[in-house]
Amino acid sequence: MKAIVVTDEAAGTAGMTLAERPEPPAAINDVVVEVHASGFVPTELTWPSTWTDRLGRDRTPSVPGHELAGVVTTVGYGTTGVSVGQRVFGLTDWHRDGTLAEYVAMEARNLAPLPGDVDFTVGASLPISGLTAWQGLFEHGRLQAGQSVLVHGAAGAVGSMVTQLAREAGAHVIGTGRAADRQKALGFGAMEFVDLEGDALEDAGGVDLVFDVIGGDVQRRSAALVRPGGTLVSVVGPVEARPADGLAVDFVVESDRAQLGEIVRRVRDGRLRTNIGDVASLDDAVAAFNPTGRRKGKTIISVRP
Ligand SMILES: NC(=O)c1ccc[n+]([C@@H]2O[C@H](COP(=O)([O-])OP(=O)(O)OC[C@H]3O[C@@H](n4cnc5c(N)ncnc54)[C@H](OP(=O)(O)O)[C@@H]3O)[C@@H](O)[C@H]2O)c1
Repeated sequence: MKAIVVTDEAAGTAGMTLAERPEPPAAINDVVVEVHASGFVPTELTWPSTWTDRLGRDRTPSVPGHELAGVVTTVGYGTTGVSVGQRVFGLTDWHRDGTLAEYVAMEARNLAPLPGDVDFTVGASLPISGLTAWQGLFEHGRLQAGQSVLVHGAAGAVGSMVTQLAREAGAHVIGTGRAADRQKALGFGAMEFVDLEGDALEDAGGVDLVFDVIGGDVQRRSAALVRPGGTLVSVVGPVEARPADGLAVDFVVESDRAQLGEIVRRVRDGRLRTNIGDVASLDDAVAAFNPTGRRKGKTIISVRP
C-alpha cells in the first residue's frame, strides 16, 4: 500500500516521503480500516511516540497521522462493536503506524460510526480537535453555563472547536490569536478577541477557565487571569504556571466513542463547523504539509478521493 513515512526526526515535515509499505494485519481486538481521509497535527513529528514504541525502541520508518475516516475491511480475533463495510471515524494509537496510508490497523474501541451524510473529509478533521476541545472543556475544565473562558488560538484547529462548544454550553468566550485571525475567531463564536501580538492579554480580565494551546509566556500570563476556583487547562505539555487559587491541568486527548458521537451529531445538525483548510491527495501530502504560506485551517489528506 501507499503510505507517508518518516525516518528522520530532525528533518520535520520536510523529511516525509511517499513510500510502499506492507498492509497491516489486524491483531486481537483490532480492525483494519481502508482510509478515505486522514488528519495530521503538525507537531506530531516532535512527539516521542512517533519515533519509538512503548518500550522506547526505534519504530521507524513510521507512518504519521492519527485521525481518520474510512471503511472497515477486516475485523480481528475477538473484535466487537464494528463490522466489515461500516463507515467509521476515530483516533489511532500514538505508538502505532497511523493514518497517512491506504490502510491502518487499530483497536476497534478507538472508532465510532460515521453517519452516511457526513463526508469522510469532515470525519477525518474531527477526532483530535473535537475530542481535545470536549475533554478540555467538560472533563478537565468542568465548564458550567455562565462561566467565562479564555480560548487561546481560537482560529486554530483545536481552538475553533473549543470556541464553538464553549459558546453552545452557555459560556462567555474570549478568543485569542494573531491579528489576522480576529474575524475567523469571532465567526466561530468568540464574543471578544485579544490579538496576542498587539493587545494586552491582561485586558481580558478575570476568567473561570483558560484553554491553552500555545504555552510559554502566554500561559504564564494567563494563569494570573484565572479567578479563585477556576482552572487552567493546557494541551501543550506540563503546565508551566499555576493559578494562585485554582487548578492547573495538562492532558493528552483519548479516544472516546460516545464523545465522537456527540461531536458528529453537532456537525450534522449545524451546531459545530469544521475548520478545514487545504485538502490534498496522498500523492500531494508531503507538499501540503510543507506549505509556502500560512495554513488556513486543518490540512486533510483525501486518501481515496
Ligand atoms: N495534548 C493534546 O491532547 C493535544 C491535542 C491536540 C493538539 N495539541 C497541541 O495543541 C497545539 C495546537 O494544535 P492545533 O492543531 O489547534 O494547531 P493550529 O491549528 O496551528 O492552531 C493554533 C493556533 O494558535 C495560533 N498561535 C500559536 N502561537 C501563537 C502566538 N504566540 N500568538 C498568537 N497566536 C498563536 C496559531 O497561529 P499560527 O498558525 O499563525 O501560529 C493557530 O491559529 C499544538 O501544539 C498541538 O500539538 C495537543
